[in-house]
Amino acid sequence: MTQTHENQPHLTQPVDEQSARALSEKGLRLALVDTTDDAAFDEWLHADSRGFLGGRDSAEALTESRELLRDRRTTAVYDDVIPSSASPVGTVNSWVAPLTVPGGATVPAWAISSVTVAPTHRRRGVATALLGSELRVAHALGVPVAILTVSESVIYGRWGFGPATFATEWRVDTKRVRWTGPATVGRLSFTDPADYREDGNAVLDRVMAGRAGEIAMTPYLAERLMGPRKGMPEAEKYRLVRYDSPAGEPEGFVSYLAKDTDDFTKHTIEVNYLAAATDEALTALWRFLLELDLVAQVHVTTRGLDEPLPYLVSDIRGARVTGVEDHLWVRILDVPAALTTRRYEHDGELVLDVADDLGFTGGRYRLTVSGGQATVETTTDDPDVSLTVNALGSVYLGHDAARGLSVAGKVTGDAAALDRLFRTATPPRLSTWF
Ligand SMILES: CC(C)(COP(=O)(O)OP(=O)(O)OC[C@H]1O[C@@H](n2cnc3c(N)ncnc32)[C@H](O)[C@@H]1OP(=O)(O)O)[C@@H](O)C(=O)NCCC(=O)NCCS
Repeated sequence: MTQTHENQPHLTQPVDEQSARALSEKGLRLALVDTTDDAAFDEWLHADSRGFLGGRDSAEALTESRELLRDRRTTAVYDDVIPSSASPVGTVNSWVAPLTVPGGATVPAWAISSVTVAPTHRRRGVATALLGSELRVAHALGVPVAILTVSESVIYGRWGFGPATFATEWRVDTKRVRWTGPATVGRLSFTDPADYREDGNAVLDRVMAGRAGEIAMTPYLAERLMGPRKGMPEAEKYRLVRYDSPAGEPEGFVSYLAKDTDDFTKHTIEVNYLAAATDEALTALWRFLLELDLVAQVHVTTRGLDEPLPYLVSDIRGARVTGVEDHLWVRILDVPAALTTRRYEHDGELVLDVADDLGFTGGRYRLTVSGGQATVETTTDDPDVSLTVNALGSVYLGHDAARGLSVAGKVTGDAAALDRLFRTATPPRLSTWF
């Protein structure tokens, strides 16, 4: 595959001078990786995998990763003094992802992934240089928000990110619950990723456009949701079931694998991804999972806070939420651009005083919402609400965070008015990792 940089300024923007200088003072070198140079890219991919405690990828897996990840801005930190200097000691990649916001529009979001620092070089400010560089490059390109999903929730607050969507994990005791949901319609059938790719992508596009917090798919993400990546453990066990409406329209799928237990009648189903563009698809796919023979438990992650499962089964406690976790973190880089892209469910006016330690978008703004549409202007008027840029990120997609942030002292002033304006009836959700 040849790489074209046309209309992809995220690939051509040079490395950030400030971070390059800071690293150079520590004897380290910040560089963009040429993702058409297979050897250099493979070293970067190995370092990324090592950072997350993974193994060395097979040649087949590397080929797939190179194909699917070439279009990301791929940054490395090198320690040129060490013998294995071709292997980065720091990694990050990024791309501009359309992020669905309340009302259904999308805002360009600087999606950051693969943040790793070699354990031999930890806590020397490498991640600080990488994150600073990502945010400054995004800001210089006029991208109004940055987003990431995180391995640990303690890391990213210092760079102005706030948790903006929460994800639920479910364990369903399928020997205990009975389906009490509506009659299910449509057609279910087994397929495989190669045959299903086009329809699956169309389903994913609808799912991602349908909820604030979801991001547009890239080929890499879509491949992961429809089936296992090459070289993943138990790849041969993955199954893909498609749902088509009574009219034959592709509207959903579930990708899953069955795990053995010591009782053959009690397998556990690990759901890789459940995609449902309509309620009919959602109910049909849930019912399929809950009624599988030789299965005792269904385990699903990254569902929304409003997953309707308890209303679809005979015994609510047989379908337990076993985890609720912060999932998508949002960092606002341009308050007016971010706030005017989303829609609001109530009209109103607020003067917001936003504190941004990194200096990207702090200031005082009058937000006026009329007919659900916002205008934002800078003002010197007294604020109604003072908050950190992290807190603004946390309420931006409609999540129910204003009251908690007010109790914690991270929002001061009229938190109820902030809540009324920003919160949405349907909670935001991100159903994938990136
Ligand atoms: C997380 C990680 C990238 C941090 O890299 P690093 O270069 O050691 O971080 P820095 O030296 O720039 O540290 C910056 C600050 O964050 C803190 N910090 C960094 N990682 C932290 C962690 N995991 N837990 C708590 N604090 C952390 C540091 O203590 C430091 O705090 P200070 O500024 O108050 O001194 C690195 O530990 C790593 O690769 N972890 C494994 C992979 C991973 O989890 N990546 C994150 C993916 S979302």
